[in-house]
Amino acid sequence: MSFMNWIDERFPATKVWNEHLAQYYAPKNFNFWYYFGSLAMLVLVLQIVTGVWLAMLYKPSAADAFASVEYIMRDVDYGWLLRYLHSTGASAFFLVIYLHMFRGLIYGSYRKPRELLWIIGVIIYLAMMATAFMGYLLPWGQMSYWGAQVIVNLFAAVPFGIGEPLSIWIRGDYVISDATLNRFFALHFLLPFVLAALVFIHIVALHKVGSNNPDGIEIKKNKDENGIPKDGIPFHPYYSVKDIVGVGVFLIFFTAVIFFWPDFGGLFLEPPNFEPANPLKTPDHIAPVWYFTPFYAMLRAVPPMFNSQFPGVLVMFAAILVFFFLPWLDRSPVKSIRYKGMLFKVPVAIFVISFVVLAWLGMQPSTPVKTLLAQIFTALYFAFFLLMPFYSKMDKTKPVPERVTK
Ligand code: HEM
Repeated sequence: MSFMNWIDERFPATKVWNEHLAQYYAPKNFNFWYYFGSLAMLVLVLQIVTGVWLAMLYKPSAADAFASVEYIMRDVDYGWLLRYLHSTGASAFFLVIYLHMFRGLIYGSYRKPRELLWIIGVIIYLAMMATAFMGYLLPWGQMSYWGAQVIVNLFAAVPFGIGEPLSIWIRGDYVISDATLNRFFALHFLLPFVLAALVFIHIVALHKVGSNNPDGIEIKKNKDENGIPKDGIPFHPYYSVKDIVGVGVFLIFFTAVIFFWPDFGGLFLEPPNFEPANPLKTPDHIAPVWYFTPFYAMLRAVPPMFNSQFPGVLVMFAAILVFFFLPWLDRSPVKSIRYKGMLFKVPVAIFVISFVVLAWLGMQPSTPVKTLLAQIFTALYFAFFLLMPFYSKMDKTKPVPERVTK
């Protein structure tokens, strides 16, 4: 009896391999946009490995944190590499995920039967944001400290006497302090494993319904006499090999940033964070890392009402939560942008422009003109979602072919 037989009688190794890889049929027309799911998995593993390793050298206390990061950078062998892998990895993770989500948006991957797959994705995105936010406090630099101060203070804006105690509960203190750093470290260590579990569920949901593709055609509707989708090819070896190409290209860019431009001009590591946290000195300008700035711009775009920042906080959270509703906002008869008309293409372009402009505005100190711009682009951002039921229905679509094209 072979070794594999011995295993298979006790654990369904071959069965799982076949069902999810060697005999899992994926559409044969995947393109560039389909690299980002596997790249996201790669970056998640990278973040966990480098993160656990950093945790062996880092000290989560207000007295030691900044110095322990300097120790990692200067004294630990290849400590600088470990840290830059992790800090660049965080930005790479969001870049990859934004492209992954954009793919879902243009090919209608959120639509029936993939609503739950999409919803799990949005939950993953929320968990990623929480992880990154808490990780950013750990180096205990000026921007770590003041960024966390600003964001946790937002919770204090919740009305009905809930806000103040809520923000104190989150911090464990009246200001960001040692207690906050300690709990953020614990949660920043835990959440990536929750993320890994969520990604597992994401893939289970994906394999239940099968992948969408750039044509938005359900390949399961067109099977041969053996029950194999005519437009499908086994994931392994075809896509496992194709994904390696994506990994290679990604690593070229990723390592180039790590070795030649790790702070990325202040975008990945912000200049004030090279100074230790000082609770008595507010930096001139507080801005989160680039992947949060679109939402930060929306927060600042909304003027306070009745002396409260709460409306801005609501708008900021709504900008993220609206993604949950996407599957039911799109009323187009077709999934993919290839067969949609101008009434989808133009709104998508406006949405992308709004997101990028808001990201830029969120990095800038506010001026009256920039606030006005932020208000206009916030309105356009929401219009994309809220008007979708109307324009997606009015849009002139093209007929979708029976079989996948290219
Ligand atoms: C840690 C983060 C994530 C990982 C590791 C991950 C992983 C994957 C993988 C491996 C696939 C299959 C390959 C592919 O289609 O590219 C996939 C598909 C998909 N993911 Fe994710 N994902 C993540 C986050 C998200 C997020 C944030 C969303 C949306 C909000 C999302 C929505 C989707 C959808 C709709 C599909 C099916 C796409 C299609 O078949 O066209 N994912 N994901």
